[in-house]
Amino acid sequence: QREGDMRGLKVMVTAAGTREPIDPVRFVGNRSSGKMGYSIARQALLRGADVTLITGPSALTPPPYAKVVRVETTKQMLDACLAVYPETDIVIKAAAVADFKPRSVADQKIKKIHPEDGMTIVMDQNPDILKTLGGMKKQQFLVGFAAETQNLLENAASKVKKKNLDMIVANDVSLKGAGFNTDTNIVKFLYPDGTVEALEILSKDEVASILLDRVMAKRKR
Ligand code: PMT
Repeated sequence: QREGDMRGLKVMVTAAGTREPIDPVRFVGNRSSGKMGYSIARQALLRGADVTLITGPSALTPPPYAKVVRVETTKQMLDACLAVYPETDIVIKAAAVADFKPRSVADQKIKKIHPEDGMTIVMDQNPDILKTLGGMKKQQFLVGFAAETQNLLENAASKVKKKNLDMIVANDVSLKGAGFNTDTNIVKFLYPDGTVEALEILSKDEVASILLDRVMAKRKR
C-alpha cells in the first residue's frame, strides 16, 4: 500500500561510523556496520524517494540507485550533509558519529613505546552534525537516532530538544538483538510532544519501513 508514496521526495540518510585518524595507519572509530542506515536508504528507494546516502566506511553494498557520498571523518560527513541539506525534505541520521578526534595526527606511523611508558592521545570535541542541521532547519523533517546504554528515554528526549528534531529513534545498544552490527533492532520512537512508541524486536529493514511510515504520517500534519 506504500508503493511509491515517497516519489518526488529528497531523502538524506547517514550511515555507518565516522573515523578519526591517529596516524597514517590507525584511527579512532566505533562498531557501526551501516546496516541500519543502508536499510533506511533501501526502503526509501523502494517507495520512490530520491535518496542520498552519506556513509562512513562500511563493508555493505549500497542499494542500487542511491546517490552515494563516501566520507571518513566527522568533518567530512558534516560538509557532505551541509552540501545536500538545503534541497532535502527528509533527513535520517543513523550514522554513529565520532564525537572526539585526536588533537594532532602523526605524519608517520607511531613507533612502539616502552611497555611502562604508556601513551596519551589528547582528544578534541567534534562538531555535532545533527545539532548544526537542527539549528538551520527550514522545510526539512529531521530524524535523529539515539544510541544509549542507560536512561534511554530521558537521554533520547533531551536530544530531541537540544538538536531541534521532529523525531528520534532510540535504541538501547546494550540489549541483545539491538544496536551495532546486528541484523535486528529494538527501538522506540519519540516525538517533540513527548509521545513514545515502542516496537518489538524487528529486522532493520522492518524498522526502516515502519520509521518511514511514521515520517510520512507526521509530515502530512
Ligand atoms: O550501523 P549499525 O551496525 O546497523 O548500527 C546501528 C546504530 C546503532 C549505529 C544506529 O541504530 C544508531 O543508534 N545510530 C546513532 C548512533 C549515535 O551516534 O548516537 P548518538 O546518541 O551518539 O547521537 C545522537 C544523534 O546525533 C545521532 O543521530 C547521530 O548521528 C547524531 N550525531 C552525534 C554526534 C555528532 N557529533 N554528530 C551527530 O550528528
